[in-house]
Amino acid sequence: MTTLSTLRLTVRPLTQEDLPALVTYRNDPEVARYQGWALPYTPAMAQGLLSDNPLGVEGWVQRAIALKNGELIGDLALNRRGPQAEFGVTLSRHAQGHGYASEAIRALIHFAFHELNLHRVHASIDPRNQAVAGLLRHVGFRHEGTHLKSYCLRGEWTDDAIYAVLQEEWRA
Ligand SMILES: CC(C)(COP(=O)(O)OP(=O)(O)OC[C@H]1O[C@@H](n2cnc3c(N)ncnc32)[C@H](O)[C@@H]1OP(=O)(O)O)[C@@H](O)C(=O)NCCC(=O)NCCS
Repeated sequence: MTTLSTLRLTVRPLTQEDLPALVTYRNDPEVARYQGWALPYTPAMAQGLLSDNPLGVEGWVQRAIALKNGELIGDLALNRRGPQAEFGVTLSRHAQGHGYASEAIRALIHFAFHELNLHRVHASIDPRNQAVAGLLRHVGFRHEGTHLKSYCLRGEWTDDAIYAVLQEEWRA
């Protein structure tokens, strides 16, 4: 079990107690707009995110983003494929705009490069999602390119923008 600690946050495995709050914010239309999960987002879907797998095993591993008092404010996930990984991040609406996403993502990327020694980390986003595009540029990701109408989001073919950072860029 891997826990990341930052000044204001703990990134830790999700628990059963986190799930009601997670289901609530994942059903918020503003939070869900550019995310791939089906709506309504059900407790059974949330249950499937519980895992004690350590961050950095192959495949998707989900983590809670919590304040130091334990309150769940969001979640992130890392999908390792050998020396590379993809990640995603979600914050509840009331927690957005306070720099929490940047703080959690910086800790995750630091862990990916310094502890896991990964070569490259990327995120795949809907280019209309200005919040996550701004977040990624803010923490040091490059826009590598955009695949046109390559992702089916709730029945609509949408563009898929790839943002990435290499270990050598992060360390520089
Ligand atoms: C993407 C998301 C996690 C960003 O969270 P956040 O709380 O706004 O992030 P931060 O406060 O750390 O913001 C970091 C930077 O992102 C950028 N940013 C945040 N919101 C923005 C917006 N709406 N438009 C443009 N840039 C934005 C800014 O550059 C900001 O830096 P600043 O504070 O110096 O201005 C949040 O909006 C969210 O959960 N959205 C819904 C889920 C989602 O779509 N996730 C992406 C899937 S990968």
